[in-house]
Amino acid sequence: MSENTTIRWEQDESGVVTLVLDDPNQSANTMNQAFKDSVTAVADRLEAEKDSVRGIIFTSAKKTFFAGGDLKDMIQVGPAQAQQAFDAGMAIKHALRRIETLGKPVVAAINGAALGGGYEIALACHHRIALDAPGSKIGLPEVTLGLLPAGGGVTRTVRLMGIADALLKVLLQGTQYSPKRALDNGLVHEVAVSTEEMLAKARAFIEANLTSQQPWDIKGYKIPGGTPSNPRFAANLPAFPANLKKQINGASYPAPRNILAAAVEGSQVDFETAQTIEARYFTELVTGQISKNMIQAFFFDLQAVNSGASRPQGIAPRPTRRVAVLGAGMMGAGIAYSCARAGIEVVLKDVTPEAAAKGKAYSAALLDKALSRGRTTEAKRDALLALITPTADPADLAGCDTVIEAVFEDVSLKHKVFQEIQDVVGPDALLCSNTSTLPISLLSEGVSRPADFIGLHFFSPVDKMPLVEIIKGERTGDEALARAFDLVRQIKKTPIVVNDSRGFFTSRVIGQFINEGVAMLGEGADPASIEQAAAQAGYPAKVLSLMDELTLTLPRKIRNEARRAVEEAGGTWAGHPSDAVIDRMVDEFGRTGRSGGAGFYEYADGKRAGLWPGLREHFARPGTKIPFLDMQERMLFSEALDTVRCFEEGVLTSVPDANIGSIFGIGFPGWTGGVIQYINGYEGGLPGFVARSRELAARYGERFAPPALLVEKAEKGERFN
Ligand code: NAI
Repeated sequence: MSENTTIRWEQDESGVVTLVLDDPNQSANTMNQAFKDSVTAVADRLEAEKDSVRGIIFTSAKKTFFAGGDLKDMIQVGPAQAQQAFDAGMAIKHALRRIETLGKPVVAAINGAALGGGYEIALACHHRIALDAPGSKIGLPEVTLGLLPAGGGVTRTVRLMGIADALLKVLLQGTQYSPKRALDNGLVHEVAVSTEEMLAKARAFIEANLTSQQPWDIKGYKIPGGTPSNPRFAANLPAFPANLKKQINGASYPAPRNILAAAVEGSQVDFETAQTIEARYFTELVTGQISKNMIQAFFFDLQAVNSGASRPQGIAPRPTRRVAVLGAGMMGAGIAYSCARAGIEVVLKDVTPEAAAKGKAYSAALLDKALSRGRTTEAKRDALLALITPTADPADLAGCDTVIEAVFEDVSLKHKVFQEIQDVVGPDALLCSNTSTLPISLLSEGVSRPADFIGLHFFSPVDKMPLVEIIKGERTGDEALARAFDLVRQIKKTPIVVNDSRGFFTSRVIGQFINEGVAMLGEGADPASIEQAAAQAGYPAKVLSLMDELTLTLPRKIRNEARRAVEEAGGTWAGHPSDAVIDRMVDEFGRTGRSGGAGFYEYADGKRAGLWPGLREHFARPGTKIPFLDMQERMLFSEALDTVRCFEEGVLTSVPDANIGSIFGIGFPGWTGGVIQYINGYEGGLPGFVARSRELAARYGERFAPPALLVEKAEKGERFN
């Protein structure tokens, strides 16, 4: 074996070979070239020394068992490297298959996270024992990066669990299981509480399976639940894509479709052919643009954002211990829950004790639901609830080191509540507002310590939404920014940092998306086609339905305020083609959105009940033909172009923050890799994007004209970064 091996061979007197995954050049094991060579060499040696081998244990010397594919390499693989990528994958698969079919028992002693390639190594073993280590995760999350598990993952999960379970439990969602849940769902056979126990169990399996009928012999696997060659199964097959519609997630995501195809086609052939099919579908994905977008966003950008690239350096962390949440409405209640979940004491204040108690009851309801689903224990629920003190008395806020305000969206009210509490809370308490539209610099005028004042924009529902937008006002200090950043991480959310502006980054940009959808209605487009265009583009919410959720009156209010500000500054208000549609909806038809019981949609018992037929009657003009691609790209471009303007205006300063903020905050389609990656990855690169913007501008209005910053970068042949 070469000097450079990433797999250490340790053989004991009884003949059990422990293969220790331990790449000497990296902190984690990955499926790189060195691993390919090592696993091939190990397979050669096992075959050569077979007679002296009693059984085999795969384990690792790293904190994680095995990290999976090397994403730094994968993001570089272009069509020219397709054959190479295919061959490398096949070589690893052949080596694992040779070990699996050697005729000796093989056990995976999974000592830490085994995701992707790591779990695929474990799948090639006959028995899987997971150590119940904290934070340890098991699964095949490739789909979340636009890929499929091509180390035998599709082929083996289908053969171990049957097609339906393999797709639903493992392949299509990319679920990452804790060791215990992995056991419950059949991904591993046993869980151990210590390394010693894990290795003892591994040896016990080997001893118990030396001579019995081997399930891994050359005949290979039999697929549970049937294959398409079984007529009953075959009859159901055509319905697969329809039944899996939710998991397959729209036309914009090729990975789920390729996984489905690899699973179904692979189930009808022998094991080796199935592995080749899997590799072919993988190669198509890894050489394409979408996996690159997704790897960039969900791995590299997310890591950059969470690791503090936008946090000021050199400021010592000061964890939040006691937080005052002002306003126990929808947002305040959710913020209180998220803070308590991280072990922070919360004083939840509203105008009356009843309103405050109602805010706390929200946490109780969430916890009761979790309890009924076995996701928490009574003791944990009670401990968490004990951290939340509801009150109407400002004096109870004494000793709070952080304040998060979430009262009604009204400048003078916000000024008033800060006045009321700023001398009660700790003398250097961090002062945050959860406003979604009001300028932070304006709000900070109401407090005596504007340097400690900052925007902390949560998204609804707070307990589910992973993003928090931090907004620096003109006078916000670096210390406040660092503390706000740390607080967001403390409650396990992802912080992006932006500078103050009307609507900041997220609310402003999502406004463009909504306005564009509504503008098309004004042009006479068929309402159902508009909704379909948003879905096809990969947006999680259709555009008109989203507007109904937000209400139609909100954009009017925002628009009027913005208009006043522009006019007061001596400018002329340009307006947007959507304005007239919204005005008619509200003034003429009295339809203000879901909360008003009627909007672009009809509602019955609070549930959406189809598009309002009046839309066709009053707005649609038969004969209006907006090409379907234009409809989709108008939505995507309107957001992308406004994001570029945010960079021009200094609202945004970080590309990873923009990408992550757009996907996690406002539902920009994940396949794009985020709003700036969408521009970078557009066909023809930046010049292609600029040319298409000009085309849209000529057809639909000057709002699509490419901003100077973009044109400049395109001319210089740069990417946006
Ligand atoms: P809400 O109407 O559900 O709750 C506001 C709460 O503030 C009410 O319980 C009210 O009684 C309380 N309140 C009023 N005056 C008070 C005072 N003097 N002292 C203490 N409490 C007082 O409103 P929601 O939706 O929770 O919004 C709150 C803030 O969060 C607003 O600034 C809003 O713009 C912002 N926001 C809202 C989002 C949403 O999706 N609803 C998203 C992000 C931010």
